[in-house]
Amino acid sequence: MSRQRSSRRPRVLRGKPPPRDPSTPSTTAAPSPRLPPRAPLPRLPDTPTVPPTGWLWTCRAGFDAQLFEELAWAKAQPSRVAEALITSARAPAAPPTFARTGFPISGVAATVDAAAALLPPTGCHVQVWVADTDAGNRLGALAQHWDDQLRERRASQSADDPRTPWQAVERGAWLGQICVVSAEGAAVGQVRARDALSLASGGRSRMRRPGEAPSRAAMKLDEALDWLGVAPGPGESCVDLGSAPGGWTRQLAQRGAKVWSVDPARLAPDVLALPKVKHVQLSAFDFAPPSPVDWLFCDMAWRPLEVAQLLAKWGRKRWARTVVANLKLPMKDKLPVVWRCRSVLEAAGFKRVRTRQLYHDRDEVTVTAVLGA
Ligand SMILES: C[S@@+](CC[C@H](N)C(=O)[O-])C[C@H]1O[C@@H](n2cnc3c(N)ncnc32)[C@H](O)[C@@H]1O
Repeated sequence: MSRQRSSRRPRVLRGKPPPRDPSTPSTTAAPSPRLPPRAPLPRLPDTPTVPPTGWLWTCRAGFDAQLFEELAWAKAQPSRVAEALITSARAPAAPPTFARTGFPISGVAATVDAAAALLPPTGCHVQVWVADTDAGNRLGALAQHWDDQLRERRASQSADDPRTPWQAVERGAWLGQICVVSAEGAAVGQVRARDALSLASGGRSRMRRPGEAPSRAAMKLDEALDWLGVAPGPGESCVDLGSAPGGWTRQLAQRGAKVWSVDPARLAPDVLALPKVKHVQLSAFDFAPPSPVDWLFCDMAWRPLEVAQLLAKWGRKRWARTVVANLKLPMKDKLPVVWRCRSVLEAAGFKRVRTRQLYHDRDEVTVTAVLGA
């Protein structure tokens, strides 16, 4: 491991694939899951229409095709409502990668009174939200009006509502969901807060870090760890692949973990100076840890199937117990590539492989997995 510093950005970022490690099967030899037939995105209806039953899902703007296809592949019978809003006749067996949040629909309401009647009378933290699109955000003022009215009404009825979604989790209470889909009305439903796909209203899980100007990379890691529900602590060991300029490495070291920070590019000087950080200025494909570590993090700007193969090698060699990785999505075939990456990790022995496009993920998804006992 070296601390050499180069003044040039490495050439490894683009172009040539990594040299083949004989212990790593090539991506073409990787187990390929049998993919269902492609399900193209239908046109939007002229007016947004929500059925009175089923599920309503929302995604990042521009990822309707992926969410629709994922629900179709899960045989959940999706339909489009509006941009970034898709319903399904039933819930898929696993939460969709491309859904920011979703809820079972109890009914459709044209007025605040009608919406109120569809919610649990007490023990419910209500969230009123819109799709995160230009058209959705134009309904933001209306959603705020509904929110204010509902809050006033429930307070006047002395409803014993949790004040925050986290309180709702602690109390085993409900998260009331109202998605304003048009000026004419909203879809209404509820989920147990502890079962919710996201505790953030509309799945807009903005991570704020007090006292600093956070980088997007730092917020991505915060959100991923929040989703995972555990994080590295003092005394634990981490490897961070594709770590420069060092946002993730800094955070991991600040949590008290020791970090091997692997990237041919330079780390920010303040990160390089941290006593718990060791910069390994190599391609991740050429790095092997001196001994197995607790955590493997990976945010490499590299082709997702090759990254999945690299993570799989770590799994087969039992070099890390828990993986948190950010996979950059290709231009085309995003969902098939996510499915293939998952199957590469599962074939390597990883358990609880989960993929989600989190709020801070752009054209990328976060994957978490653990090695079984
Ligand atoms: C999105 S940036 C990582 C940001 C980082 N997580 C942070 O918090 O600052 C992607 C990084 O992947 C690195 N990368 C690309 N190919 C790599 C390879 N083969 N091995 C290691 N790092 C690589 C790039 O040098 C770049 O620094």
